[in-house]
Amino acid sequence: MIYPGEVFAQTQEFDTNIRQLLPYYDEMLDAIVLCLPIKAKRILELGFGTGELTRKVLHHCPDAHVTAVDYSPRMVDFLQTKLDSQGEKERVKVVHLDFGAWANDEAHINFTGHFDAVISSLAIHHLSDRMKEKLLHKIARSLNPSGCFWNADPVLPEFPELADIYKQSRQKWAQQQNIDLDAVRSKVGKSETQGYSSQDQLITLDNQLQMLEKAGFSKTAVIWKYYNLAVFGGLH
Ligand SMILES: C[S@@+](CC[C@H](N)C(=O)[O-])C[C@H]1O[C@@H](n2cnc3c(N)ncnc32)[C@H](O)[C@@H]1O
Repeated sequence: MIYPGEVFAQTQEFDTNIRQLLPYYDEMLDAIVLCLPIKAKRILELGFGTGELTRKVLHHCPDAHVTAVDYSPRMVDFLQTKLDSQGEKERVKVVHLDFGAWANDEAHINFTGHFDAVISSLAIHHLSDRMKEKLLHKIARSLNPSGCFWNADPVLPEFPELADIYKQSRQKWAQQQNIDLDAVRSKVGKSETQGYSSQDQLITLDNQLQMLEKAGFSKTAVIWKYYNLAVFGGLH
């Protein structure tokens, strides 16, 4: 049994499989990275997984130190080994924590001061809507006055008629790439609710932008979208 968000039964296959399950995975993460000020020094990443976004951030922001949070013991071990092999151990502080508990002030991230940026990909949609709101408030409170937050996540279709179109877009993309989607989906592991996360709890992009505004983000934007996948966020 794996935790919600780990996706694949075999952690070591995540990097290959996710690129076959999701269209334009790298492009999506690159969109987040491009929004980060090159001079950013302190970055918080929520739900680091196998550290693919972390790796891109370290490359884009040469002065940055990343505080990287995940609740899965498998992901924590995997990232630590990966960082060792890449010689990037010094620039990443790996924190084993449920970001829902952090949002609820039940767990603490050991950090002095505020972050220049908070980022996340494919993780926050596992929280309930109430917890998403709490997390956004906590993120807003943890940022510098000029800080930013960017998130990549699947979203609900804007209206029901789009659901089938979004599904077809995925099939068509897979066919063009010669990917057998059923074979990739068979590698997805079984998960049950763990801490504050459970199976996908999707909401529309509009709702997410409203939540950001309510949490105190003065400027919000959708910077990338491919059918039901979006990168969105804002400035404090
Ligand atoms: C689909 S993976 C994405 C990993 C990486 N961000 C990427 O884009 O490749 C989602 C990650 O979020 C983590 N996650 C989900 N809910 C979490 C929670 N409440 N607290 C901490 N980590 C969580 C999972 O363990 C998993 O590693």
